[in-house]
Amino acid sequence: MSIVEDLDRQLATTYSRRTTASRALYERAQRVLPGGDTRTGTFYLPYPTFMDRGEGSELVDVDGNRYIDFLGNFTSLIHGHAEPRIAAAIAEQARRGTVMGYPTEAQVALAELLVERVPSVERLRFCNSGTEAVMNAIRGARAYTGRRMIVKIEGGYNGAYDAAQVSVTPGFHAPPYPSGIAEGPGVSPGIVSEVLVTPFNDLETLRWILERYGRDVAAVLVEPMVSYAGMLRADEGYLQGVVDAAHAVGALAIFDEIVTFRVGYGGLQGLEGVAPDLTTFAKVIGGGLPVGAFGGREEVMAIFDPRRAGGVSHSGTFNGNNATMAAGLEAMRMWTPMAIARLDQLGERLRQGLQRELDAREVLGHVQGMGSLSHVHYCAGPVRSYRDALRSPRHCARLMHLGLLTRGFLWASRGMTALNTAITEAEVDALCGAFGEVLDLGRDVFPRVGSTEPAMADA
Ligand SMILES: Cc1ncc(COP(=O)(O)O)c(C=O)c1O
Repeated sequence: MSIVEDLDRQLATTYSRRTTASRALYERAQRVLPGGDTRTGTFYLPYPTFMDRGEGSELVDVDGNRYIDFLGNFTSLIHGHAEPRIAAAIAEQARRGTVMGYPTEAQVALAELLVERVPSVERLRFCNSGTEAVMNAIRGARAYTGRRMIVKIEGGYNGAYDAAQVSVTPGFHAPPYPSGIAEGPGVSPGIVSEVLVTPFNDLETLRWILERYGRDVAAVLVEPMVSYAGMLRADEGYLQGVVDAAHAVGALAIFDEIVTFRVGYGGLQGLEGVAPDLTTFAKVIGGGLPVGAFGGREEVMAIFDPRRAGGVSHSGTFNGNNATMAAGLEAMRMWTPMAIARLDQLGERLRQGLQRELDAREVLGHVQGMGSLSHVHYCAGPVRSYRDALRSPRHCARLMHLGLLTRGFLWASRGMTALNTAITEAEVDALCGAFGEVLDLGRDVFPRVGSTEPAMADA
């Protein structure tokens, strides 16, 4: 047995001992849900932890174990679990009707709040998920430009829509740019052929792609910090360069701010002072309920105006439902510049604390991110692109996740964390301590500073 398998087995045994009720539910779940789960991205081995309830910064599982939640439903809970004011807003709305099937003032109020915060967004529409937001933004860009292709970033996750399910995790066998590959079977090959793939932080390749295919390109879709591939931060000038390159060929720039909106009062675009044509939102703007929104320049968004002959159809039974709007409004009103500044500090404390634990043990690793969002890579940093991130061996992230889980700390199995306003400095410090403990436990597994970087075969 290899040292990795040995540690894996050791951690899995501890995990299984602590989570017998989760295991029983997992076995029951497999009889009705394929794989015993209903969300690919959150699944992990030996089996996922089944949760009972959330309270502020904590989750409690069905065995009664308590965890400090450094994930917040994959970045969507900016104020932690069951925040009393948000819960009260939802309860009040439940009494008055969760969805009317007609427009309501709550939709206008949340739209006004977002338009006020994000200058590039003059008009917006609501939907029910980030996936739908990206789908509608792409459709709108196609309709507005009369073109069919989009350019997306290699390693970027922009939701489950077919056009976004291209080259998210192509591994080391990715075709040469700008070709992309379907993220698994079932994604329409016709749609894949209309998606061009480009590396993040590489304007030269983007310009080259646009020179060759520009007249068919409706939009360049980019997440201003690529969260899924490991919080890849944009080089100075890159985001403006993307917008300029798109405009030079008559295409639109779409920023996916579904995760990154939380880094600033007006999202990451506000901090960078860059204005895309369209922006997609989800997660935090729903206050913990399902949500999506897409918006941008008035002239572009007019394509969705139902009075317009030949406009784009955008429907959805629960678009702008009152429960989501009430929760979102409450959450966003509490997401003040002061709250953002506090989480920025807490995020810095976390990144520095984790990096200190790595450095103290001479473990090869780099913690990067921005504001409340961070990611640990087990390779030298900064990590600037998807292919760069492949240097971090996946088993390190997996073992760290399991090690933290057994110590009462939750983050994504790929090594991502998202802070929320319920988390304290002491909880951040406790996480750093637990991180160090797992590094000690896996002393022979985590790469050492000065060692040859892991072979790419690991991906
Ligand atoms: C950057 C980004 N875009 C889009 C999506 C899709 O959002 P949803 O899960 O609400 O469909 C996600 C979800 O994680 C995301 O991280």
